[in-house]
Amino acid sequence: MNPSGREQFLGLLSDSMRDGALVKLTLGKAASADPTLENVFVRPVALRKGPSFAFVWRHKTRDVTKNHDLKESLALLERMIGTEFLDAHLFTRTHSAQLETGGRTDRLRVRTVGGKPPPDLGHDRVKRRPIPLGAPWLRALGVTDDGGRPAASMADKLRQIEKFAELLGHLLEEAPLRRDGPLRVFDMGCGKGYLTFAVSELLGERAWVCGVEARADLVDFCASTASAMGMAERLSFRRGSIADTDVGGVDVLIALHACDTATDDALAKGITAGAALLVVAPCCQKELRPQLAAPEVLSGALKHGIFLERQAEFVTDALRAQLLEWAGYRTRVMEFVSTEHTAKNTMIAAVRSGSPGNGALAGGIRRFAQFYGVRRQTLAGHLGFSLA
Ligand SMILES: C[S@@+](CC[C@H](N)C(=O)[O-])C[C@H]1O[C@@H](n2cnc3c(N)ncnc32)[C@H](O)[C@@H]1O
Repeated sequence: MNPSGREQFLGLLSDSMRDGALVKLTLGKAASADPTLENVFVRPVALRKGPSFAFVWRHKTRDVTKNHDLKESLALLERMIGTEFLDAHLFTRTHSAQLETGGRTDRLRVRTVGGKPPPDLGHDRVKRRPIPLGAPWLRALGVTDDGGRPAASMADKLRQIEKFAELLGHLLEEAPLRRDGPLRVFDMGCGKGYLTFAVSELLGERAWVCGVEARADLVDFCASTASAMGMAERLSFRRGSIADTDVGGVDVLIALHACDTATDDALAKGITAGAALLVVAPCCQKELRPQLAAPEVLSGALKHGIFLERQAEFVTDALRAQLLEWAGYRTRVMEFVSTEHTAKNTMIAAVRSGSPGNGALAGGIRRFAQFYGVRRQTLAGHLGFSLA
């Protein structure tokens, strides 16, 4: 009898793991008993004890990483593929193989991929950078020096750009993006354009990227830099306010450190236009502070200004995350860069995943708002969501 698609896939997988050809494995279409589990990603790592494999278990709101040796890895994967995960996608140095199970018969497609780089082994390897240090725009923005080394005072900025590019790369893989032409990306409140240039570098010809900024001097600087770098065909800058910008047809909307309710204006624009992916890093959450009525039990703690400020940040961003879920987006809140490098480090990422208006969520959001005495909030207002 011929081996099934699953058996053939497991054979390819086992060979690639044994002979060091595995680049990465992705498991999707979760069907496990844990409803929060969405994907598993596997890649090879060289640990002191010998070749191993890093498994990243992606849950709805967190990632868990564990390393396993070859024997454990094969046993785990054999148990999961076709049962706990119905789809599996294998990338090796020479092949890619895609398995779909769950139908009457398994479907396996294998393709040759010429010229794939060897797997990136080891924890002490030179890290592959999502943005090449030699990119001329990094130099033009003062992030690197003439020799392509990080400029002394810009180490934190470079770290932020790299971390952002890395996170965005993962999020783009998850988002339901169009495949019928270049993506439209808006970066709202783009400032000096560090992250706007980074997105354009990351996506290349796959995207038209537009930075929106209130300050004319920054818009002029960014536009002339894009032109000087030969990037202006797919990277533009526009002067304007976030609230008044038409983002029709947007696929990916970004707003990093747009002040106070400008984040809400940006989110509302993206949601209304049906963007596939929204990424914001909020800052200066001032709007709710005057409304926050501390529940009696918290009044002793919240007489301290710093706790009150942190609570305002938490309530604002938690409300935004819940409103995004209600609006039909699978939402994740994560640390963007370590607080050691910047205090503005919370990122909210939302991937379009369904239709808006889940009644059960709406009730929970209202109870949350009422608990903190919040009656009005800009994103809720834009979405026509009554908190009362
Ligand atoms: C803190 S900077 C962040 C710049 C950039 N996004 C980054 O993270 O590197 C915020 C920028 O957003 C702009 N901005 C704030 N509110 C805005 C609004 N409502 N419309 C357009 N630009 C806005 C400011 O002028 C400023 O340049």
